[in-house]
Parts: sequence; C-alpha cells; structure tokens
Amino acid sequence: MFEELVLKNRSYRGFDRSVLVTRERMLRWLGCVRTSPSARNLQMLKFKPVTDADACSRLLALTRWGGALPQMHLPPEGHEPTAFLVVCADLKLGTCSENTMIDVGIAAQTFLLAATEDGFGGCMLRNFSHDGVHDLLGLSEWLSPQLVIGLGKPAEVAKVVDLPESGSVNYYRENGIHCVPKRSLDELVI
Ligand SMILES: Cc1cc2nc3c(=O)[nH]c(=O)nc-3n(C[C@H](O)[C@H](O)[C@H](O)COP(=O)(O)O)c2cc1C
Repeated sequence: MFEELVLKNRSYRGFDRSVLVTRERMLRWLGCVRTSPSARNLQMLKFKPVTDADACSRLLALTRWGGALPQMHLPPEGHEPTAFLVVCADLKLGTCSENTMIDVGIAAQTFLLAATEDGFGGCMLRNFSHDGVHDLLGLSEWLSPQLVIGLGKPAEVAKVVDLPESGSVNYYRENGIHCVPKRSLDELVI
C-alpha cells in the first residue's frame, strides 16, 4: 500500500554491507525519476550512480550524517552505505534556481520510494563538500552537485512518532530505534 511505502521510506543511516546496491537497480529507480515532474519540464538534473567501494568510502568522508545525534558516529562503523547517488544541476540547460531545487526534492523522493519498494533505503544529504564531491567524481564543470543520497540495505529500525511535549522536532534513539517526530495532521492543515 502506498501509505505503508511512504512510512517505510525513512532516512536510514546504517546499512547491511553484505547486500550491495547494484548499478542496474539504481538505473531502474532512476527510470522512475525520469518521468517525474520538472519545472518548465526543463529536466536539468543529471545523476551519478556510485557503486565502486573505494569511491563510496571517499564520498562518505565528504558527507555529514545525523547532525542531531552528535554523540553517535553515523553511519556506524561496518554499516556504511554501499552506494551513492549524486544529483547534479546541469548548468548547460539552465541556472540553478528555486525551481531546480524543487525538482531535486521530487527526484530524490521518487528515487527513494522506488528503492524502498525493493527493500533498500537511504538518506538525502545536503551537508557535503560540493567542491570535494565535484573533484572526486571528476564531474564536468557544468555539473553542479546539489544533493547526495547514501544508499544500502537498511540495518536499523526507524519509526515515525508524535512530537514530544517540548515540541522538539529532533530525531532521537530510544531502545535502539530511530524515532522521527512528525507534526500531527491537525497542525499541518490550515
Ligand atoms: C533537503 C534535505 C537535506 C538533508 N540533509 C541531511 C544531511 O546532510 N545529513 C543527514 O544526516 N540527514 C539529512 N537529511 C535527512 C533529514 O535529517 C531527515 O529527512 C529528517 O531527519 C526526517 O527523517 P525522515 O526522513 O525519516 O522523515 C536531509 C533531508 C532533506 C530533505
């Protein structure tokens, strides 16, 4: 059911490294992204799937995970992502605008929903070294990395919870479960 899929599609920051994400799988998930909405139908996003183990560990070093849990080292050692997708704006096709960033969000969520349906998962990452990623992947000068997605077979349990009394939206760990507070529907609807 779609609602279950959306609930299961959490941000995962620990993975089972015995299950690899293949390039073929990623291309299939990108096939879903290909037909998603795009402002002015410009389709100015380009996608770099990264599955090589060495490139993945170098990419990992350029990203920052779980800022709200500074006491934890995320992803935990031995549970690093086995693939990455780097979402780039193609500056040959237009300037990187607010509309481009909306396209990025739609593409990322579509990609992750497809991955979730196949039993995989990941985490969108905006906290990364843009220059570092650009150089590491040898991207053309007109390709500007906008989002990195770390991917793998989730090795942690994450669940949506109500906001605590304090109203804090910070995610937290309870008995090893990753809890993600979400505002109630009542609070969202105007
Ligand atoms: C645009 C965007 C940027 C994000 N950047 C990071 C990041 O740099 N590092 C990280 O660990 N999580 C990042 N996240 C994941 C959020 O922390 C996560 O979506 C939030 O905690 C809610 O959890 P959920 O995705 O399970 O609902 C990002 C999410 C979005 C949508």
